[in-house]
Amino acid sequence: MYQKTTFLNNPDASNEEPKKFTFDYSYWSHDGFRETAKGLILRDPNHPNGDKYCDQLTVYNDLGKGVLHNAWEGYNSTLFAYGQTSSGKSWSIVGYGVNKGIVPMFCEDLFKNIADSKSAGEKIEFEVRFSMLEIYNEIVRDLINVSHTKKRGLKVREHPTKGFFAEGLSSTLVTSYKDIETQLDFGTTNRSIASTNMNATSSRAHTIVGITLIQKSRNVKGQETSKTSVVNLVDLAGSERASATGATGDRLKESAAINQSLSCLGNCIHSLAERATGRNVRAVSLIPGPQVPEIKKKSVNKESRRSKKEPPRNSDTGPPYD
Ligand SMILES: Nc1ncnc2c1ncn2[C@@H]1O[C@H](COP(=O)(O)OP(=O)(O)OP(=O)(O)O)[C@@H](O)[C@H]1O
Ligand SMILES: [Mg+2]
Repeated sequence: MYQKTTFLNNPDASNEEPKKFTFDYSYWSHDGFRETAKGLILRDPNHPNGDKYCDQLTVYNDLGKGVLHNAWEGYNSTLFAYGQTSSGKSWSIVGYGVNKGIVPMFCEDLFKNIADSKSAGEKIEFEVRFSMLEIYNEIVRDLINVSHTKKRGLKVREHPTKGFFAEGLSSTLVTSYKDIETQLDFGTTNRSIASTNMNATSSRAHTIVGITLIQKSRNVKGQETSKTSVVNLVDLAGSERASATGATGDRLKESAAINQSLSCLGNCIHSLAERATGRNVRAVSLIPGPQVPEIKKKSVNKESRRSKKEPPRNSDTGPPYD
């Protein structure tokens, strides 16, 4: 790995040119870290790759802070972790125990910003709501109000102005970071996770943490105005080959649903990226069943801010993702 470029060497053909993939960011987490007695993973300054190791805070500063900024400005935003099983998606988005990922750091910063606004004397009233759902074998489950979810799951519906939503999904009012942390821990324990040959804590479902921020204030005429932004932080289940993960039975069924919805999501994002470059293509093909593209579409509607990033170059891994 060098700066933004990751090089892949074929171990069976050492004279072959390495494959190059250039991204907005490339992170090293293979080695160069140490674990403290409390289980915290930190850079190891004594390791030759210690400087290179990318910790959770760096990822949050690079990717999470921009989402918070957009939310503050009133834009809807979505951040996806997409990739092969065991590549570190759940680690980066939610984190494990003391190694907090983007979601807890985002929520902590959100409440810090609210406290700063109050102490600066700004006359803004804030309302924060938290929801957490997963899409398991194409069934949408509420991870906070588990008993709420019927056997066939929550229905995904479209509202003419607000876009797509999961009908009946609980949305809890939270007034402090502690509140959110409690909800997040509770939701996390309800996630569908299982051990495979490639990951002892493999996500078997796509998980979406939804945070709604409402800012109410009065304009110069004394009229009440409000700004609402919806943030979706998404930890997708990873694509996998059954031969590598050893999936059979339930694991195999999950794996088929995961791969199908990921490829459907890939097509959806590809169409949106094509449209962003001015090509006249159908925006989204809504295939009945897979729920992910519908929820993704909600996050890229008129009120959202989209940033187009460079697709990986010299890559045959599929469409570019924003
Ligand atoms: N940056 C990192 N530093 C140290 N350990 C890591 C890092 N990223 C991931 N891990 C470890 O690698 C393992 C796999 O990570 P993780 O569960 O996040 O993968 P995933 O991409 O979510 O996989 P799946 O698609 O199967 O859910 C975990 O045990 C995690 O603790
Ligand atoms: Mg995972």
